Amino acid sequence: PLTRSLSMGSLSGLPLWDQEELPVEDLLLFEVAWEVTNKVGGIYTVIQTKAKVTVDEWGENFFMIGPYYEHNFKTQVEQCDPPNAAIKAALESIKNNGCQVHFGRWLIEGTPYVILFDIGAAAWNLDRWKGDLWNTCSIGLPYHDREANDSLILGSLVAWFFKELQDKPNVIAHFHEWQAGVGLVLIRSRKLPMATVFTTHATLLGRYLCAGNADFYNNLDKFDIDREAGERQIYHRYCLERAAVHCSHVFTTVSQITAVEADHMLHRQPDVVTPNGLNVKKFSAMHEFQNLHSMNKLKIQEFVRGHFYGHLDFNLEKTLFFFIAGRYEFSNKGADVFLEALSRLNYLLRVHKSDVTVVVFFIMPAKTNNFNVESLKGQAVRKQLWDTAQSVKEKFGKRLYEALLRGEIPDMNKILDRDDFTIMKRAIYATQRHTLPPVTTHNMLDDSTDPILSNVRRIGLFNSRSDRVKIVFHPEFLSSTSPLLPMDYEEFIRGCHLGVFPSYYEPWGYTPGECTVMGIPSVTTNLSGFGCFMEEHISDPSAYGIYIVDRRFRSAEDSCNQLTQFMFSFCQQSRRQRIIQRNRTERLSDLLDWRYLARVRRNHIQMLQTYCVCQPPWKLVVFGFQSVPGLILFFVTHCMSKSLETPVCPVFLLH
Ligand code: UDP
Ligand code: G6P
Ligand code: GLC
Repeated sequence: PLTRSLSMGSLSGLPLWDQEELPVEDLLLFEVAWEVTNKVGGIYTVIQTKAKVTVDEWGENFFMIGPYYEHNFKTQVEQCDPPNAAIKAALESIKNNGCQVHFGRWLIEGTPYVILFDIGAAAWNLDRWKGDLWNTCSIGLPYHDREANDSLILGSLVAWFFKELQDKPNVIAHFHEWQAGVGLVLIRSRKLPMATVFTTHATLLGRYLCAGNADFYNNLDKFDIDREAGERQIYHRYCLERAAVHCSHVFTTVSQITAVEADHMLHRQPDVVTPNGLNVKKFSAMHEFQNLHSMNKLKIQEFVRGHFYGHLDFNLEKTLFFFIAGRYEFSNKGADVFLEALSRLNYLLRVHKSDVTVVVFFIMPAKTNNFNVESLKGQAVRKQLWDTAQSVKEKFGKRLYEALLRGEIPDMNKILDRDDFTIMKRAIYATQRHTLPPVTTHNMLDDSTDPILSNVRRIGLFNSRSDRVKIVFHPEFLSSTSPLLPMDYEEFIRGCHLGVFPSYYEPWGYTPGECTVMGIPSVTTNLSGFGCFMEEHISDPSAYGIYIVDRRFRSAEDSCNQLTQFMFSFCQQSRRQRIIQRNRTERLSDLLDWRYLARVRRNHIQMLQTYCVCQPPWKLVVFGFQSVPGLILFFVTHCMSKSLETPVCPVFLLH
C-alpha cells in the first residue's frame, strides 16, 4: 500500500518528487501513547477508533506502544510473537537486560500489534534514568510525582527500544501527549535516525489555568507561563511537554483553538491541525438506530423505576434523560454551569406546570467505596415487585385457562385468592421509603467536599417529589456487568435524549461527537474543539441537534441562561419532533468519520508546506495523499539527504 500511495502524488495537485525511489518498502510506523489498551479519557478513543484505518493501510508495519497493566493485557490482548525479526530482537535484548515487555494483538477493530512495557518491573532503573534526563536536558523530576516518574520509565524504555532498532533506518514514531513525550525527547537527544511526530491533546498549563478559574482565553498572551507552571508545581511536567513539542519534527494538535493555545503556552505553533474522528458504523436501515434508542431507553427506565421506588409519581413516558460524562474535571467540563442551569430549568418547568420530568445523569469517575446500600436496595425492590407481578400473573393465567377449558368465563373478583392479595400488599409495603431517592449511586469517599455534591446541596436539587429535574450522580464509568445499571456507555448514550457538555476547557471533546454518530442531540460550546469544528462546517448546527453554548464572548451568567433555554426548549418538543431531530443529527455522522476527515485535512497541506520551506534544512515533498483511509501521507524529506550520509528521514504526518 505504501508504494501505491506514492504513485498517487499527482492527485493531490502538489508537486511530484523527481521519480526517485525512496526506501519506504520496509517503513515501520509506531504510535506511542499512555492510553494504549489503557482507558483514561479521549486519547484512548483516538487511538482505538483510528486503529482500523491505520492497520488497513500499514498492515504488519504498524505497532502501538504503551504501558503494561496485567488486567488490561489479560482482558484485551492476545499474546503472540512479533512478526518482524528486528522488533523481536530489540524486545529480547530489553528482556535480557532485566526489564519486562509484552507483545500481542489488541483485540479491537483492526487488531493492531501492541508493545507494552512493564513500568513497575523497570522501576529499578529510575534513578539512573532520572540522571540521564538531567544530563540530557536539565529536567529534574521530584520523587513524589508518580505520573511523571512513570512517564520517564516508559520514555526511557521506548528510546532504548528504538536504539536497539537502529539498523532499521525507516522508522516513524508518533507520540501522543506529554506522558508519552519523554521517549521523543530522548530519541532526538540521542540522534537516532528516525522521524517523529508529536500530537498534543491539551496543554498542561491550559488545563490547570482554566480549572483555576482564570479568564484564560482573554489573557492568552499575558500569562508568565514559566511562573504559572512553577506556582502550580508542575514546572517539571511542563518542561517535559515543551521539550517534546520542540524536539518533534512535526507538531500537531486536535483543534484550531488548541493550536492557538499551544502557540502561547508552549511557544510553538502546530504545523497542522488534525481533528479527531470516529469509526462510524452505518446501519443498512435508517430506522435501526431509532429502534436502538427505544430499546436502550427501556433499560434506563428500568433503572429509574428502581432508583426512584416509592417516588414514582412521574410519568416515565414523559420523562427525558439528559447526561454529562467524562473525566471528572468539574469546571473544565462545565459541570458547574450545567448544575446551575438545571436549577433554573427545574424552576421553569415548575412555574410552567410542565408534565415533563428530566432525569439527569452525571457519569464522572470519582473516588468511591462501591455502590451504596440505598441504590442497590432500589433495584432489589424493583426486582421483587417484578417477580411478584410475574407469579400472580402466572396464577391468574392458569386459572383463566382452566376456566376457559371448562367453557366458563371466570368471576374476575374471585380469580385471585386472599393469599395473592396478601403477597401483593406486602410487596407494595416494601416500596415505602422514608428518605428521598439518593443523588449518588455510590459511597463517595470525599462526600462533603465533592464539587458535584456540594453544588447539589447549594441549589437544593435533592430529588424531591416536587422537583421536575432529578439528579443521579454515577461516579464511575458505565459497564454492562454493573448490578445497578447494566449497560455499556454506548448503549446508555443511545437510550438518552440529550447529552450536555458545556465545557470551558476542551481541546476536542469526544462526548458530543459520540452522541452525534448515534443520532442523539447534544450541547457543546464554542470553547471546545468539536463545537468550533461544527460551527465551521455546518451553517446551522442546532438544526442538526448540536446546540453550541457561547462561553467565549458571553459572561458565565449569560452562558448559563442560554444553556437553560436550550434545555427548556428541548423539553417542549413533542415525541415526533424528537424523532425527526434524531434523524437529522445522525445524518452528520459521516463528517466525523476518520475516512472523511482525511479529506478535510487537504486544506492544511499549504500550511505545512510553508512551515517546511521556512525552516531549512527541511523541505516538503508531497508524495501522496490518501483520501480514503484516515491518514494523510505527507512526505517530508531532508533536502540534503542525497549528499549526506544519514539515511533519508521521512516524516509521514498522520493522525
Ligand atoms: N467514556 C466512557 N465511558 C463512560 C463515559 C465516558 O468510555 O462511562 C469515554 C467517552 O466515550 C469518550 C471519553 O470517555 O470517548 C471522554 O473523552 P473526551 O474527549 O470527551 O474528554 P477527555 O476525558 O479526554 O478530556
Ligand atoms: C424511536 C422509536 C419509536 C419511539 C421513539 C421514542 O424513534 O423508533 O418507536 O416512539 O423512539 O422517542 P422518545 O424521544 O420519546 O424517547
Ligand atoms: C484530551 C482532551 C479532550 C480530547 C481528547 C482527545 O483528553 O481533554 O478534549 O477530546 O484529549 O483528543
